[in-house]
Amino acid sequence: MTIRPDNFYAEKYGLTPTHSEVLAALPKLEVGKALDLGCGQGRNSLFLNQHGFDVTGWDSNPQSLERLNSIIQQENLQQIRTELCDLNQVRFNGGYQFVFSTVVMMFLQPETIPQLIADMQASTVKNGYNLIVAAMSTDDYPNSQGFPFAFKSGELSDYYRNWHIVKYNEDVGELHRRDEDGNRIKYRFATLLAQKASY
Ligand SMILES: C[S@@+](CC[C@H](N)C(=O)[O-])C[C@H]1O[C@@H](n2cnc3c(N)ncnc32)[C@H](O)[C@@H]1O
Repeated sequence: MTIRPDNFYAEKYGLTPTHSEVLAALPKLEVGKALDLGCGQGRNSLFLNQHGFDVTGWDSNPQSLERLNSIIQQENLQQIRTELCDLNQVRFNGGYQFVFSTVVMMFLQPETIPQLIADMQASTVKNGYNLIVAAMSTDDYPNSQGFPFAFKSGELSDYYRNWHIVKYNEDVGELHRRDEDGNRIKYRFATLLAQKASY
């Protein structure tokens, strides 16, 4: 087996590097099935596949999936697939080791979130993990960009109160978007890595 650097595909195909929270979660995860909700062009799906995961990536943007599919084809990758999917419409289940969504939930309708998280949790095997990173709206960093949804303080961790929360923070981060002065726009992001209890 060829050993490749972690950002091999991202660098080769000009994608943004693997999300830092996916990189950080990897050592905790048992290799198995992974579901990438809002996979975009697949920087995280490709990384996990490289580390032995059987990955399914869902996104509603056909151009992004086309790009990811062309990489899959060009590299002749196995155990990685995409599906065109509107997360505002989908219901799902399945036995995944890792279900994750990075920088996606803020684009969804607020009424989608409770059921989406319930499906993420129900689709995770015992001792498996969920990772969510999404924008928040707080008094100090309000939702200035008008995202349809933004977590309130403590809201995301509350969904996981019956799980083992491995990591949770509401740190300030930056969007790729810039304001009129060219500065990257700041938001707080809810970042959660949680493990499903084994009882
Ligand atoms: C900022 S990108 C993040 C992509 C990827 N998760 C990553 O970390 O690179 C947000 C993604 O959410 C997807 N998205 C937005 N609304 C969606 C929806 N209703 N259903 C599925 N995907 C959606 C977009 O197409 C886009 O690929």
